[in-house]
Amino acid sequence: MSTNTVDNQRKVTTSRLIEMKRRGEKIAMITAYDYTMATLVDGAGIDVILVGDSASNVMIGNATTLPITLDQMIYHAKCVTNGAKRALVVCDMPFGSYQGNSKEALSSAIRVMKESGAEAVKMEGGEEIRESIERILTAGIPVMGHLGLTPQSINKFGTYAVRAKSEREAEKLIADAHLLQELGCFSLVLEKIPADLARRVASELEIPVIGIGAGGGVDGQVLVLQDMLGMNNGFSPKFLRRYADLSTVINGAVSHYIEDVKSSDFPNENEQY
Ligand code: KIV
Repeated sequence: MSTNTVDNQRKVTTSRLIEMKRRGEKIAMITAYDYTMATLVDGAGIDVILVGDSASNVMIGNATTLPITLDQMIYHAKCVTNGAKRALVVCDMPFGSYQGNSKEALSSAIRVMKESGAEAVKMEGGEEIRESIERILTAGIPVMGHLGLTPQSINKFGTYAVRAKSEREAEKLIADAHLLQELGCFSLVLEKIPADLARRVASELEIPVIGIGAGGGVDGQVLVLQDMLGMNNGFSPKFLRRYADLSTVINGAVSHYIEDVKSSDFPNENEQY
């Protein structure tokens, strides 16, 4: 077995992601919310599986990430940890589970870790959630930060447009990114911000910066699985690359099945007992 094969089978940990950044190896992260998809993306060799609160949109059909509950996130994360063997599994802390106070934040994070088996949590925000992050980290729970477009604050910003285009907002983002690293976050997601700003943050930080709509100058990329597989054609932001057209494949297969059932072609003699 070559060293590379051994490395490809080795469990991904938070410290391994930091090593990957040091070596200049890009990190591939993707979302998943269920056992079957987690098994498939893990088997393909993904480094990190994010059980994103985008489950609120793509699994439940809500218009925003706000309604998903802690119980629902734990359910999805448990399904994913049942399937993932090698990838690091990170679970989003849902809206309302950590913003109130740091004690509540810690008990939410403990529930995620104990009940789902996820290996880290992700939280949106910087200075304003500092105490919650500190308390969670003190309990030995790894935290991934998330800055830029933070969908849990959609009602404050009113739009999903590119963030941190103004100098003032860019400066706050840079200060928050440094703060998150100083507090002890093991990595940071930057969502939908100018590529030059994301590159600058990634070059200034030692922890890996994973981008979504943040250009190629960062240490890794994350996409929502259903979006990159072409299962959700109503969502076409500029940053999204589609790697498959599963909505057409699924529609074709199910239409074919319906035809076969209606015409009594299915099941045939070999498909019965
Ligand atoms: O919930 C999610 O899927 C996310 C990614 C878009 C980073 O937070």
